[in-house]
Amino acid sequence: MPDDGAPAAAPPPVSWSRAQRRLHWWTAVLIPCGFLLAFVMVAWPLSDLLLKFLLYQAHKTIGLTVLVLVLWRLLLRARRGRPAADPDLPPWQARAAHIGHLVLYGLMLAVPVLGYFVAATAPAGVPTLFLLVIPVPHVVAPDEAAFGVLRAVHLSLATLLVVLAAGHAVMAVQHHRRGRTTLLRMWRGAATPPVR
Ligand code: HEM
Ligand code: HEM
Repeated sequence: MPDDGAPAAAPPPVSWSRAQRRLHWWTAVLIPCGFLLAFVMVAWPLSDLLLKFLLYQAHKTIGLTVLVLVLWRLLLRARRGRPAADPDLPPWQARAAHIGHLVLYGLMLAVPVLGYFVAATAPAGVPTLFLLVIPVPHVVAPDEAAFGVLRAVHLSLATLLVVLAAGHAVMAVQHHRRGRTTLLRMWRGAATPPVR
């Protein structure tokens, strides 16, 4: 107990929990899938309207699932915390990784929310059906001007998210090749090595 009588802060967990790891890898699979699907659905010919509709619903379902998984992940992170940075990491790299992770979280929230508003303002007025059966109400009406702007921002931020996530994955593999535990902690919950 510290001198001021305040309870000591709990130490950070030694690694990522199973739930945190599963959520990380599910989002890592779903985001590139949703991203690639977006270009296929937009390019799909209007003459094949049913398949185009299904591709759009699949894209919206993947995006909304990412949103729910990320909110769940942030809740777990707030309650359980995250393991301390690998002690072998130079402080500037730990700081850069921390900022990068915050930006990734921001984009993982912003891109699906913007996507929802793109869908709601789309002049075609196509409904959003989660898993093709659960209607998601649109809280704003179709609006061509707003749609044009939102669509461009949604596309730009989604591209930024995928590019940053790719850079993040390359860094994770680089650290692994240098013998650090970062990737093993996220892959199978390996323990953080003690400070030397
Ligand atoms: C991680 C989540 C998401 C990613 C990475 C993503 C990515 C993209 C990309 C790259 C495009 C642009 C395709 C193009 O213009 O060529 C796009 C378009 C679109 N997205 Fe998303 N999106 C996500 C979530 C969502 C969500 C949650 C919704 C709706 C509920 C949504 C609805 C749309 C719609 C309606 C378009 C097409 C606009 C049009 O017809 O031109 N997206 N998305
Ligand atoms: C769309 C793809 C991805 C996104 C959006 C993403 C996002 C994130 C975020 C936000 C964190 C920070 C977790 C936190 O502090 O709560 C994280 C951690 C991590 N990610 Fe990813 N990730 C992606 C793909 C990958 C891939 C493909 C790899 C490996 C090849 C990877 C390896 C890691 C590792 C090792 C950590 C733990 C870092 C640490 O312990 O400090 N990620 N990821």
